[in-house]
Amino acid sequence: MNPTFNTLRVKEVRRETEECVSVLFDVTPELQEQYIYKPGQYLTIKREINGEQLRRSYSICAGLNDNELRVAVKKVPEGRFSSFVNDTLKAGDTLEVMTPMGKFTTEVDASTEKSFVFFAAGSGITPVLSLVKTILETAPKSDVTLFYGNKGFDSIIFREQLEELKNKYMLRFRLVHIFSIENLGNELQNGFILHEKVEKLHAAFLNGQTVDEVFICGPEPMIFAVSETFEKLGYPKENIHFELFTAPTQRENVKLDIPQKQVQLNANVKIILDGEETLLALDTNGESILEAGHKAGADLPFACKGGVCCTCKAKIVEGSASMDVNYALEKDEVEAGYILTCQAHPTSEKLVVSFDD
Ligand code: FES
Repeated sequence: MNPTFNTLRVKEVRRETEECVSVLFDVTPELQEQYIYKPGQYLTIKREINGEQLRRSYSICAGLNDNELRVAVKKVPEGRFSSFVNDTLKAGDTLEVMTPMGKFTTEVDASTEKSFVFFAAGSGITPVLSLVKTILETAPKSDVTLFYGNKGFDSIIFREQLEELKNKYMLRFRLVHIFSIENLGNELQNGFILHEKVEKLHAAFLNGQTVDEVFICGPEPMIFAVSETFEKLGYPKENIHFELFTAPTQRENVKLDIPQKQVQLNANVKIILDGEETLLALDTNGESILEAGHKAGADLPFACKGGVCCTCKAKIVEGSASMDVNYALEKDEVEAGYILTCQAHPTSEKLVVSFDD
């Protein structure tokens, strides 16, 4: 099913820290099925603010057993959307909310017997909390280690919930705080989660232990430090999962080799969405397929427009295309013909792209 927006009523806006609130949505019975999510997925919200239509994606922070649809929104400096949510939004208001998306997730059930390791920093805890809660509550034979970086004690989002989980699942949940400013009096737990720190944390907490899956969510430097260190230590790449929380800086070849555009042509592009076709002419070096599609009147789904979130994913049915950046699709998806339309340009004279496949 293609992602769609629905109007949802805000049931509660709860302050989590001075700079972060969580927003609980009321999902009417007829929409319940559309908002069934996997732990770690996110919602994209759109709203007009000061005359401009803005979209932002926020991770769901509830575990599957919580039976609620709740996202966390941390106020970012100069952030128009996050300031609106933190300062103005209240229970009873309505928002346009897209159905859940995202691949930062894992399947677990009562038979899952795995050791999970999570690295989170700041608001990167949001999808991680959803995953950790779900694993602890659903998979009694699995254990979780969470390394969580913050400036200090007061900036820990979901502090009480994490403590409760620690007390409840004492033998299966290990929580290690790392503070960049406040001093915990222990060198290992002070500083930023970068290469050297990751090596030391691994040596102190994980050496000799089996680690089946690693999940990382937070700023780009931490993601690369953790993934590169674990790869260097011999962990298979396919078991290391990450979610970028901000549009990344231009970085070559993050997840796969992106073929460079070698041709210059004006292509005939057909875009298929919900069975409807949009036809347009598009230059290889011009705007993206997503932008061109929007201008031609197609309501193509998107969120980040930065190659991060995967919301604009579509499949090439005929022809070829290249992407400027790709931080979201796995190598096998690209090989199967999937593209991020916000980053894609035609490289064949005829290109057919489907959002329905
Ligand atoms: S809109 Fe997010 S990857 Fe294209």
